[in-house]
Amino acid sequence: MICELDRLLLERTYELGARGIGNTSPNPPVGALVARGGCILGEGFHHYAGEAHAEVNALAAAGDARGATLYVSLEPCKHIGQTPPCTQAVREAGIARVVIGALDPTKHGGGADELRREGITVEVADDASARELIEVFAHTIESDRAFVALKMAMSLDGYVTSRPGVAEWITSEEERLFVRELRVACDAVMVGAGTVRVDDPQLTVRPPAQRLRQFQRIVVCERDAVPPDRRIFAEVPGYGRTIILAPGGSRARFRGLEAVADVIYVGTQEQELDLAHALRMLRARGIYSVLCEGGPTLAARLIVLGLVDRFYWAIAPLLLRSEAAVPVLAGVELNGGPRRVQFDRIERIGADALLYGRFLDV
Ligand SMILES: NC(=O)c1ccc[n+]([C@@H]2O[C@H](COP(=O)([O-])OP(=O)(O)OC[C@H]3O[C@@H](n4cnc5c(N)ncnc54)[C@H](OP(=O)(O)O)[C@@H]3O)[C@@H](O)[C@H]2O)c1
Ligand SMILES: [Zn+2]
Repeated sequence: MICELDRLLLERTYELGARGIGNTSPNPPVGALVARGGCILGEGFHHYAGEAHAEVNALAAAGDARGATLYVSLEPCKHIGQTPPCTQAVREAGIARVVIGALDPTKHGGGADELRREGITVEVADDASARELIEVFAHTIESDRAFVALKMAMSLDGYVTSRPGVAEWITSEEERLFVRELRVACDAVMVGAGTVRVDDPQLTVRPPAQRLRQFQRIVVCERDAVPPDRRIFAEVPGYGRTIILAPGGSRARFRGLEAVADVIYVGTQEQELDLAHALRMLRARGIYSVLCEGGPTLAARLIVLGLVDRFYWAIAPLLLRSEAAVPVLAGVELNGGPRRVQFDRIERIGADALLYGRFLDV
C-alpha cells in the first residue's frame, strides 16, 4: 500500500532526479532518499554516467539504514554495468521496504522482483512524472537512433512569420526562457538550414548553465551549405564544434564548411538527406537526444517520417494570416505520416499556451 507520505517522498525523489538532467545521458536522471518513520535520513541522485547510482548515494548519505524505507524514482538496477547492481546495495544496507516511482521498461528491468525474492517489501506507484524522467533513456535502450523532441511556436492561426525570409519573435520572453531550459536537457539542439539563413540563431543556453557534458549544436542541410560566418559557428566555451548534417552525394558543396564545423556526410551517393540515417549516426557519436527547434520544413519532414518522439508546441496569442505568411509546417504533404496526436499536458507560459504531446500511429 502506498500512503500519502509515500507520495510526498516520491515527489521529492523526482525533484532530486531532475538535478541530473542534462548530465546523466545515456543513463536516466534518477533520485532517491532513505527515510525512517517519516524522517529523511539521506538523499541522493545520479550525477553522471559511470558514477554512483542515486540509491547508492542516498544510502551513503543515510549511514545506518537498517529497517528503513528506500524511495527511488526508477526501479533499482539488477545488472552489473559500470557500477555494481543497486539491488545488492539495497540488500546489504538492510533496507526493509522499497517504494518505486516507475518500473524500468527496458531489458534492464526486473530489480523489483529480485528485491521481493529477497523478502524486501516493494511498492510501485507508476507515476507519470517518474516515467517522464526516463523517457529518453527508455528510447535510448530500445532504438538505434537519437530521441527527437520537437519544439515549435506558431500564431493562433498556425503561422510562424508574416512573410518568408524574416525573423519575427512571436512568443513571450517567458516561453523563450523555457526553450533555453529544454536545451540543457537534450544532448544537442538542432535546426534546419533555412532557420540558420534567416534567423542566424546562436542556440546557446543563456544565462550559461553548468553541464558536465559539452553542449552540441546541429544544422541540417540538404541542397546548399549555410554561410560560414553565421553565429552558430562561433566558438563558445563548453560547446562542441557545430555539426553539419549533409547528404553524402553533395560533398563538394559542403567542403567549405569543414573549416568551421564537423560535417557529417549521411550516406554516399544521395542528394537528399536521409534523416533517419542521420539520427542513427548521431546516436553512434554519443548524441542520444536532440531538441529540434524548427523550422517548418525540417519539422514537417521529421513528423511525416515518424521521427518525432515528443513535441512542445507553443501557441502565441496573435494572428498572422496573409497570402505570404509561412505555415508552421511546410514543404511536404503530411499524409503518409501520423494523423493523430495526443496532448499529455497543457500549460500557460507568459502570454502563450504550451502543448506537450506526442504523435500517435507512428
Ligand atoms: N516559430 C518557430 O517555431 C520557428 C522555428 C524555426 C524557424 N522559424 C522560421 O522559419 C523560417 C525558415 O523556414 P524553413 O522552412 O526554411 O526552415 P528550416 O526547416 O529550418 O530549413 C529548411 C531547410 O533545411 C534543409 N533540409 C535539410 N534536410 C532536409 C530534409 N530532410 N527535409 C527538408 N529540408 C531539409 C533544406 O535546406 P536547403 O535549402 O539547403 O536544401 C531546407 O531548405 C524562418 O522565417 C524562421 O524564422 C520558426
Ligand atoms: Zn543502479
